[in-house]
Amino acid sequence: MDDKHFETNAIRTQTERSQFMEHSTPLYLTSSFVFEDAEDMRASFSEEKQRNIYSRFTNPNTSEFVEKMCKMEGAEAGYAFATGMSAVFSTFAALLNAGDHIVSASSIFGSTHGLFTKFLPKWNIETSYFNVNDVDAIEGLIQPNTKILYAESPTNPAVDILDLERLGQIAKKHNILFVIDNCFATPYLQNPIKFGADLVIHSATKLIDGQGRVLGGVTVGQADLIREIYLFSRNTGPALSPFNAWVLSKSLETLAVRVDKHCENALKVAEYLESHPKISLVKYPFLKSHPQYDIAKKQMKLGGNVVAFEVRGGIEAGRAFLNNIKLCSLSANLGDTRTIVTHPASTTHAKLTEEDRLEVGITDGLVRISVGLENVKDVISDLSQALE
Ligand SMILES: Cc1ncc(COP(=O)(O)O)c(C=O)c1O
Repeated sequence: MDDKHFETNAIRTQTERSQFMEHSTPLYLTSSFVFEDAEDMRASFSEEKQRNIYSRFTNPNTSEFVEKMCKMEGAEAGYAFATGMSAVFSTFAALLNAGDHIVSASSIFGSTHGLFTKFLPKWNIETSYFNVNDVDAIEGLIQPNTKILYAESPTNPAVDILDLERLGQIAKKHNILFVIDNCFATPYLQNPIKFGADLVIHSATKLIDGQGRVLGGVTVGQADLIREIYLFSRNTGPALSPFNAWVLSKSLETLAVRVDKHCENALKVAEYLESHPKISLVKYPFLKSHPQYDIAKKQMKLGGNVVAFEVRGGIEAGRAFLNNIKLCSLSANLGDTRTIVTHPASTTHAKLTEEDRLEVGITDGLVRISVGLENVKDVISDLSQALE
């Protein structure tokens, strides 16, 4: 099965058929599983037998979802979580000890930043940050107690690109783990393990679900690391629900066709915005004007579905633009069939000082658009009337 193509694995990786000979995977809504006898139970708990015991540990629906994600990312093993953030938190909590240190890009998802600044320091785990445009600074930040190099690419919300191969080489040279949040790219567009990542994290809530229905997360990568994450999670309980796993596994069947179309639409939106006089800047990985266009081309199949752009006139112009939007949604999610626009400076990143916002590429007029699957002409005409 592993030698099959991406789309085939996404569709044909499936739980074993039951006596009902179902075609599509059924839902295993069960919190626990039964044993033949005392010996079966003992052998299962001691892990002499590989089988489902309790759905906090494993469940056929979550296992199917994880198996697909592993094939898509070229990973040895994985574990699925209730949300992207529980995947991020559990990965760090499982692998780090008090006194360890993280080196991270400063442009990372807001809640991950919150985890690094507010919560991990409670366990004496500190983080040093590098600017995405200054990868040369990374080696100077690595300390004897540094355990993880962490980044996202493309970044949220400024759509910056980091050279994954370069980061992988730095991590290897210093014998530290390289962990990537691959949420914006999806495994269809980018496989960080090929560039040296040890672990890849996803918020499955975004393009993996793709229809704005369920929350989910997953970490995949090296089997020995996943084993630590599994043991931590089995005891602490951030498991993905079987229902959400079933939804997400079904969604993966169409990931390739959906993401192809998302990217086609996003490129058209980016090109339209780049030609508009009221727009001062457009950032989309597959636009030639993107500062890291060559790197994006090297490591991504297509540019993704998120476009960041700046409306002339600062924070007020950004807010006015959002107020005039009619078809697209003002919502906190991304990676939905429905196009979503957000204004980070007045919403998700309003608590940051202007200086801190600028450090992570969030200018006052920056708008993030997650381009959906509507007819792109209707999306562009909505953006156009809002800009007038
Ligand atoms: C890059 C990135 N990582 C992680 C998350 C967190 O995912 P979740 O909302 O599923 O917890 C998000 C959510 O927006 C995200 O954009």
